[in-house]
Amino acid sequence: MSVLLTGGAGFIGSHIAVELINAGLDPIIADDFSNSSPDVIDRLYAITSKRIPCYEINVADAPSVSRIFEENAIDAVIHCAGFKAVGESVSEPVKYYRNNLDTTLTILEQMKAHGCENIVFSSSATVYGGSHTAPFTEDMSAGDCTNPYGKTKYFIEEILKDAAFADKSLSVVLLRYFNPIGAHESGLIGEKPNGIPNNLMPYITQTAAGIRKELSVFGNDYPTPDGTGVRDYIHIVDLARGHVAALKYAANHKGTEIFNLGTGKGTSVLELVHAFEQANGIKIPYRMAERRAGDIATCYAGTEKAARMLNWRAEKTLQDMCRDGWRWQQNCVK
Ligand code: UD1
Repeated sequence: MSVLLTGGAGFIGSHIAVELINAGLDPIIADDFSNSSPDVIDRLYAITSKRIPCYEINVADAPSVSRIFEENAIDAVIHCAGFKAVGESVSEPVKYYRNNLDTTLTILEQMKAHGCENIVFSSSATVYGGSHTAPFTEDMSAGDCTNPYGKTKYFIEEILKDAAFADKSLSVVLLRYFNPIGAHESGLIGEKPNGIPNNLMPYITQTAAGIRKELSVFGNDYPTPDGTGVRDYIHIVDLARGHVAALKYAANHKGTEIFNLGTGKGTSVLELVHAFEQANGIKIPYRMAERRAGDIATCYAGTEKAARMLNWRAEKTLQDMCRDGWRWQQNCVK
């Protein structure tokens, strides 16, 4: 089974590529390397011993995407290509709407033109917004997002739902990611943020590496056990395996289905810092800082639906996430 994997050289996409190969499927990567590097393709070869075909294209460009469908018998698409920096999306919203929506529309048009019926979309728990109480379940309302990045995820979900409603041959699976962290255990692929990291785990690993002086903990007065924000951190390899399960589901169903990819366990900022210290024997200097605008107190997944319908569960521990994330950080500064 050939799978077009957009954004396949990125943090999440590259781990999905590995798990597709582990499952005996054939990924074909489309990426413009705008936030990734071509050497990821060599690293994927080092991990899997498979040369993954890679098209360096902008996924919004219809002729380029059409060529991929013409040259390969694509059975399904996993659509991960998109801009993802929350802060940048606030200062450059039009760039985010243009890119994230255009890529999706082109993919949908080209799927239809070439008779491809299955798509798995890389969405985010951010679509649940700030008004629900965790655990967040797939039946809760969505769309109350605090930034343009999150809104693009929500709008794309709606576009895909409408497309599947109109075209009964289409199968859409929307995967709402919680907080993917860690890296492949080989230490060859992982997350490489541009500039100062916005997300917690890359900031912790860069602090451990001495690149950052100290971590700022954004708020210690939240209604959580230790006052710091609670999130559902999920190992990137578990998350990638969730896509394989979603593809199998999509191949046997029609219409739209939504699944959370999370562990169902909440971890506070300080708990993650201490888990990292314990797993790796390194102290992380930190100080308390103001709350970050747009953050919510507590976010973790309801996991029952994915377990029941996809037969998928996250298996790796917080210790695995901290150990693998640190191994990658050490390799990528070399
Ligand atoms: C963020 C995005 C979310 C996106 C996700 C991708 C926001 C508001 N949300 O989620 O839309 O889908 O990344 O992974 O940006 N923290 C610190 N110090 C730091 C960094 C973070 O204390 O230097 C805290 C945050 O306040 C939060 C937790 O760590 O409580 C996790 O933050 P982060 O890794 O940025 O993820 P989210 O905010 O959950």
